[in-house]
Order: sequence, then C-alpha cells, then structure tokens
Amino acid sequence: MDITTSKLENIDIELILTNANELAKTEDTVLLKKLSFKAEQDELCFLPESNKLYVGYSDDIASSVATSIRFLNGKEYVKSIKLTTSLDDNDSIYKIANGAILGGYKFDRYKSKKIDDCMSSMYISTPSQKDFSETIKKALKIANSTNFARDVVNMTPDDCYPRVLAKIAKDLADQNDLECNILKQKHIEKENMNALLAVARASRHDPRVIHLAHKPKNAKYKVLVIGKGLTYDSGGLSLKPSDFMTTMKADKSGACAVLGIMKSASELNIDIEVHGFIGAVENMIGGDSYKPDDVLTAKNGKTIEVRNTDAEGRLVLADVLDFAQQEIPDFDYIIDLATLTGACVVGVGSYTTGIMGHNESLKNKMKECAKNSGEFATPLDFNRFLAKTLKNETADICNISNTRYGGALTAGLFLSEFIKDENKNKWLHLDIAGPAYVEHAWGVNPYGASGAGVRMVVEFLKSL
Ligand code: BES
Ligand code: ZN
Ligand code: ZN
Repeated sequence: MDITTSKLENIDIELILTNANELAKTEDTVLLKKLSFKAEQDELCFLPESNKLYVGYSDDIASSVATSIRFLNGKEYVKSIKLTTSLDDNDSIYKIANGAILGGYKFDRYKSKKIDDCMSSMYISTPSQKDFSETIKKALKIANSTNFARDVVNMTPDDCYPRVLAKIAKDLADQNDLECNILKQKHIEKENMNALLAVARASRHDPRVIHLAHKPKNAKYKVLVIGKGLTYDSGGLSLKPSDFMTTMKADKSGACAVLGIMKSASELNIDIEVHGFIGAVENMIGGDSYKPDDVLTAKNGKTIEVRNTDAEGRLVLADVLDFAQQEIPDFDYIIDLATLTGACVVGVGSYTTGIMGHNESLKNKMKECAKNSGEFATPLDFNRFLAKTLKNETADICNISNTRYGGALTAGLFLSEFIKDENKNKWLHLDIAGPAYVEHAWGVNPYGASGAGVRMVVEFLKSL
C-alpha cells in the first residue's frame, strides 16, 4: 500500500480518526450520537451511505488505524482511502503509517486462492497539509521489516527448517549489504556447541548458526542481538501434549525478529554496528534423541544436566550467546530474543514481553523503548534465591529449576550462566513467548506471527 500526504484523485472511503473530545465537532455528530459511538480506543462506526468510517483513539493511534484497515480488508470496492485527522506532527503520522502497514498485513502463502490485495493507496489529510513523506518512509521501513519477520515465522516447519532459515538470512544479507557467515554441522562441532548439537540431534535437518553484521563507518556503538531459532519445538522426548505443540512453528520468532532488526538497521542506515546471531535448530524425537539424564558440556565448558528436553531454547542460546561473545568480544550491549517459556505468558499475559537482566537502568531503558515503539514489555527482576534453584548434584547446573514457580526468571537465570562476568551488565534477555504469536487479532497484529521484538529493539538502537 502506498501512503502519501498528497491528494488522491479517487477516494473510495474516508477514514476519520477521532477521539472523544473531537466527537462534538464532526460533520456527523448527531448521527454518531444516535449510533452511540463514543470514539473509544479501536471503536469503529461505519456510515455506508456517506462512505465514511469513524474510528476512535485514545492512546494508541497505530492500533486504531490497524483495526480500521482490518475492517476494510474484506471490502473489495475499497482501493483508495482518505484518512482524515486533526493530528499534525511527525510522531502521529509515523504511528498512522505504521498502523496501516502492520494492520494491513496478509499471509496467503498456504491459500489456494491468493488474497487480492486491492487496497492500494492511502492519503493522509492533515490540517497543515505538510509533506510528511520522510516520516512515512521511515515508518514503512520498520513496518515492512516487522512484516518480513512475520512472513518467516508463519512458514510451516516443513518449509522452514534450519537450512532454509539460513538461506533466508543469506538472501537478506545479499539484498541489504549485510555481512553473512553461516556455520554448518561440522563447523558447529568444531566450535564445541554441544548443547545446541544435542537438541538438534534427532532431527533429519542439520542445525545452522547464522551470523549477520551491519557495519556502518564510524559506528557509535556495537550491539549483539541473539535469536532463538527453533524451527520446530516438539518438546523432544519430554514430548509436548498436542494442544501445546501446535503453534510451535513460531518457536523461531526470536530468530526472525533478529532478521527483521538486521533488515531495519540496514535500511534505516542506523549508525550502530549490529551483529545478529541465530541458533537454527529443530527439536524432534527419535532413536537419536538427547534425553532427560544426559549431561552436556556447553561451549563455555559448563556441564548441564538435562532434566527436560522441552527446555531446549536455553540450551541452544547458551552456546550461541557464548559464540557471539567469542566472535565479537568488544561490544556495548548483548540482547537475546526468545520464545523461551510458557511461564512468561502465565506471568505477564500474551501481549507483553518479559525484560530480564542484571542491569536495572538498561531494563528500564528497554521498557521505555518498547513503549515508544508501540510494543508492551515489562521488567522482571531476578533474585539470588531463584538463582539457587538451578543447582544440580550431578553437573554444574540443571536445564530446569527445582521449583514450579518463577519459570520465566529461572530460564533467564540459566542464560545468565553463559554471559561472561564482564558482560553481565551489558545483557538483556527478552522473553517474547506471549506476544510472538497471535491467536486472536489485537492492536496492530492480525492472526499469526506478530514480529514481536523488532520495533522495540530498533527503537533501542535508534535511542543510543
Ligand atoms: N518454546 C517453549 C516455550 C513456549 C511456550 C513458547 C508457549 C511459546 C508459547 C519452550 O521451549 C518450552 O517448552 N519451555 C518449557 C520449559 C519448561 C520445560 C521448564 C515451558 O515453558 O513449559
Ligand atoms: Zn521447548
Ligand atoms: Zn522452545
């Protein structure tokens, strides 16, 4: 969809953004009142005779626009939209454009009849009629990067396994001038990434470790972003019940967020050196499965007793985190993104990312960035008692804790064991298990992958 602030010739529908205060001043005030439209956040009121759609907003403009676009999506006659608003600043126009592209996202790869994308243009009419094209361009880049991440997450496990994910990363690198290095089985073995390899062992698809880099000249900072790329998580021998196994194609959401972040970093020319690392693995069952009771020696030398093969993401990340710190030792921040625990979803709900780490102010900064980007995220705090619950009689550490409670934090504390002491304050762990996959559309997210993490981490990079 084209978005512009210059007038269009034909307009099929007028979309009017309204808040409760503006309601008394519209052309349709009487009619809207009769229809008991209150202009609440995301509330819609369609006036078919005059071809107008009113949408309410209070604090989330992007969500209101996205909700309207979803409503109009099914209507074939709607090809061009005039969006009328009293908002007239860069920030609001950015949110409008973002909401339109994110809300208009469609995924029809597996439909025999392709969705005909008839909605082709949107003209944003502001009081000043100023040219907001630079702002719109930026909004489109970040929204398209998020949609790119969504596209990959939505691919089925049979279509997107580690080799394919690596190919997608390679193609992205070629198109966006990123450096790209892909480690195959032998190379991963040479790097002693035995925890990752154990998870991968029963799959007919070899694992891959992917490294992408965006290296602008005179970069101010160096940031490492690490993604959990479980192209499928069956649970392994600690097999998931079937109801919990469906949607586990989305266990590669952290990895896909990293791809989206790299795409944005390059397209927005962000003046930060950004390295993306992905552990691409499929967690399956078979005669060659790794087992509860196994003891693994991770790349950093620590031994791990496996007590649950479904706590696999932390094993993969353990090795990729250590690999990233080895490859790029002189960085400023290291941020991992992972659909790591069901416990995080229980704790904070399915809309919110859990932010963990040892650096209070860094966690708060990410919370702020998430908010500014339109994502929900909240800090969760470690403590020394939870850290003790990973202790193990047999090995250095166990891959699950000895308590039923605090699972998001104990998973985060497990990862912390693989962050070098000198880097502890540079590290953030983002558990995106809740928001990564959407089963009922909300905000700017239609059904399916949301691209969680892309907007907030890009906002973080821009804020440095
Ligand atoms: N990929 C799952 C976590 C998950 C759950 C993501 C729901 C998205 C939605 C992860 O690998 C897992 O299975 N974690 C276990 C850990 C447990 C065995 C300690 C979990 O959360 O149950
Ligand atoms: Zn699992
Ligand atoms: Zn998993």
